[in-house]
Amino acid sequence: MKSRHILSSFLATSLLLTGTSAMAAATAPATDAPQRIASDVFLNQINVDNIYNDVAYLAKAPREAGTNAEYQAALYIKGKFDQFGYTTTLQRFTIWKNYIAAGVDSHDKNKPFELNQNKVVNVNKATDADLKNVDLKGMYAMITPGGTPIKEKIKKVMKKGAIGVMMLDTSFQGIDKEGKQLVKQDSETANIQKQVEDTVELKSIGVDAYYYSYNVIAKLAPNSTSNLNEIVIAGAHHDSVPNGPGANDDASGTATVIELARVMALTTRDTEVRFCTFGSEELGILGSNAYVNTLTTDEISRTIGEFQLDMVGSPNAGSLIMYTVDGYKNVVTDLGATAAAKLYTVIPYGKLGRSDHEPFYKKGIPAALFIYAPVEPQYHTAQDTIANISKTRLSQTARIVGDSLYQITSPSTPSFKTYKNFFTPVNYSFENRPVQ
Ligand code: BES
Ligand code: ZN
Repeated sequence: MKSRHILSSFLATSLLLTGTSAMAAATAPATDAPQRIASDVFLNQINVDNIYNDVAYLAKAPREAGTNAEYQAALYIKGKFDQFGYTTTLQRFTIWKNYIAAGVDSHDKNKPFELNQNKVVNVNKATDADLKNVDLKGMYAMITPGGTPIKEKIKKVMKKGAIGVMMLDTSFQGIDKEGKQLVKQDSETANIQKQVEDTVELKSIGVDAYYYSYNVIAKLAPNSTSNLNEIVIAGAHHDSVPNGPGANDDASGTATVIELARVMALTTRDTEVRFCTFGSEELGILGSNAYVNTLTTDEISRTIGEFQLDMVGSPNAGSLIMYTVDGYKNVVTDLGATAAAKLYTVIPYGKLGRSDHEPFYKKGIPAALFIYAPVEPQYHTAQDTIANISKTRLSQTARIVGDSLYQITSPSTPSFKTYKNFFTPVNYSFENRPVQ
């Protein structure tokens, strides 16, 4: 059935189907699959104002990993995906951030805290009963908020030889351990820093807090009579650095992913699509790492590619490039280059990690980072605002990645595991372009 519709390349496919949808319908082959809109009709549904408005909305303030602002951004994104008909989950994961590291076992405040599970003892609320039979020498004591004031708990565990204290900071997040929103904020942990600083005897202990960060994962099942049992992913990160609103890094990628999710739901697909926005990228690519670790081996083997969109809207950066972790072409760059050549001009590929495509690559999934490089002077500053966002650039990236997704999910193309057999990518070359 598919073979009747196979064309030498999807460049030819899109040229053939250029024109009105009525024309496309008249020339389309007889098939039991639902009629699919033509590539240009699909692309015309992408509305750059939606992307721009979402960048403006998300970039009103910083969305630092683990903060309420990041959580609210995740809820906003989830709301959009839900509205478009996706099955959406908020995936919670734990991150560690240094609160105070005064003295013993302090660590680099600029690095996310790497927890050595073997050094942590859970002492609950540090009641006498909780502490009765535990050996805390050289250990971090994990304390649950509530009960005795935090100061007293710290004193108690220190007496037993603890070198550090850890706790969940729910203060600004306003959520409980199950992720449910609390009406009232947790005042105990809100004041922990002050209390510890006020308590001279406690100055020789490291105090860390753990925080919740979230990924937003939206899935859409194939809706064509043929189902290839394959998955394609487009991703971005919704967190920002603490000191800037991250309009380009990476509200631009996040808003583009949202709009692509909207238009992809309007077409016919034989491939499952997943739109993901990750938390805590700026802390060390933590969210996407947490996500790939939840994928089963079956899901990994069915995933044909990940398109990562990061910093895709600044007029002050260089031109569009696709970076792979190993510096080799893959199905994602082949699709991206071909779509770009058809719609605009051919784009190169290069070698770079430093974003959420890395964990996918490490699991053996073809992945590439779409970014404009060298990056703009506003990168990771308070000037990374909506004032430095170009609708033209947002639109170009959305159309290039959108066309790639349209082609890869089309019921007229066979399994992308064997894509080399029917699709000849355009010629595009490696460029050793500095990113900064
Ligand atoms: N959007 C950037 C990616 C990037 C790559 C910017 C290269 C500039 C040059 C990303 O959000 C980022 O800043 N990543 C961190 C990753 C680190 C925390 C592991 C980086 O590159 O410093
Ligand atoms: Zn980024």
